[in-house]
Amino acid sequence: MKRSTLLILSITGVYSAILHTAAWSVNNFLMTGPKAYLTYSSSVAAGAHSGMEECKFQFGWERWNCPESALQLSTHNRLRSAFFSPSPPATRETSFVHAISSAGVMYTLTRNCSLGDFESCGCDDSRNGRVACVCLAGGRGWVWGGCSDNVEFGEKVSKLFVDALETGHDTRALINLHNNEVGRLAVKDTMKRACKCHGVSGSCSIQTCWLQLAEFREIGNYLKIKYDQAHKLEMDKRRMRAGNSADSRGATAETFHHIHATELVFLEDSPDYCTRNASLGHHGTEGRECLQTGKNLSQWEKRSCRRLCTECGLRVEERRTEVVASCNCKFHWCCTVRCEQCRTLVAKHFCTRRDSTTPNHIRQRNRGHRR
Ligand SMILES: *[C@@H]1O[C@H](CO)[C@@H](O)[C@H](O)[C@H]1NC(C)=O
Ligand SMILES: *[C@@H]1O[C@H](CO)[C@@H](O)[C@H](O)[C@H]1NC(C)=O
Ligand SMILES: *[C@@H]1O[C@H](CO)[C@@H](O)[C@H](O)[C@H]1NC(C)=O
Repeated sequence: MKRSTLLILSITGVYSAILHTAAWSVNNFLMTGPKAYLTYSSSVAAGAHSGMEECKFQFGWERWNCPESALQLSTHNRLRSAFFSPSPPATRETSFVHAISSAGVMYTLTRNCSLGDFESCGCDDSRNGRVACVCLAGGRGWVWGGCSDNVEFGEKVSKLFVDALETGHDTRALINLHNNEVGRLAVKDTMKRACKCHGVSGSCSIQTCWLQLAEFREIGNYLKIKYDQAHKLEMDKRRMRAGNSADSRGATAETFHHIHATELVFLEDSPDYCTRNASLGHHGTEGRECLQTGKNLSQWEKRSCRRLCTECGLRVEERRTEVVASCNCKFHWCCTVRCEQCRTLVAKHFCTRRDSTTPNHIRQRNRGHRR
């Protein structure tokens, strides 16, 4: 309940940030005008939201789990929290937030366009009719046709909205713009060719193909790898400190010269996400759930209790809850299904403080239960 309220708040935050932008940087929107602006803004907000949802999924079992405050701290929302000080740090985590939300915005706009939600835009048919071939690999040729997703449109409009929120001219702003671009490139780089066969009864002598967006999950997975490989910018501190903005911009440009367009970059090391830090908006890992038992856990999930609790100086507490579910269902002629109600104990694991005053009998049970 509380969580969903927060979510709505943060979406409206993006909204108001966007609306605010229109008010004071009209020049950015002259190209498209206020009508176009109103057309796209709900799609932009939906895209930013889906980006944050994906962030929560990707970081579900990490110490930093993409809290709502991440959105507040990201400059996407700086307009709303104009009085927030100090300015949000440019960490590895904020680089991911920028990339995934700008990818989300571009993705939703592109998808909306293909679905015919906007009058002003439709499929990308620029390649249609052209013959293509991967003949060297022994493959057959195909003809471009059908409805390719119009990523150029999504890219253009999302840039207009998302990059416009970056108003500073400092290194941090350049980093955020770069990471926004990494997100948009991820949408393009994960596109797939889909094809349809034609010809006499399934002979597939002719194929028409088009380019379509990947599932958004795949873009999330792709950016998570980029997050793991993110590059820390080592700025020339002396030139930065000189106070001469032209000089510091020069130093920044030089540094960026070596960065690949698909690489996420950050400036500051991450704080310790184990412990709560209100001024940074981190909750710490105390009270978080982790996974210890269960089918089909990945290696990463299996280590979640160690990562979130043990290595953060917390202990793993098992809590059992009774779950009532339908079971022993039988089909009766004709036509009903009757089930029994079965009670099962489900164990969940949480990080708690070592010295917390837990009643003795619970502690005992925990010890007994460990393997
Ligand atoms: C665009 O797509 C999103 C998500 O699918 C949807 O919520 C939104 O209403 C669409 N926008 C328009 C203008 O149709
Ligand atoms: C919170 O983080 C800031 C910045 O890293 C640090 O200076 C401060 O000491 C931290 N506060 C606590 C309570 O850990
Ligand atoms: C377990 O994982 C395998 C392979 O990833 C998958 O095919 C299977 O459906 C999963 N089983 C459950 C119960 O999720």
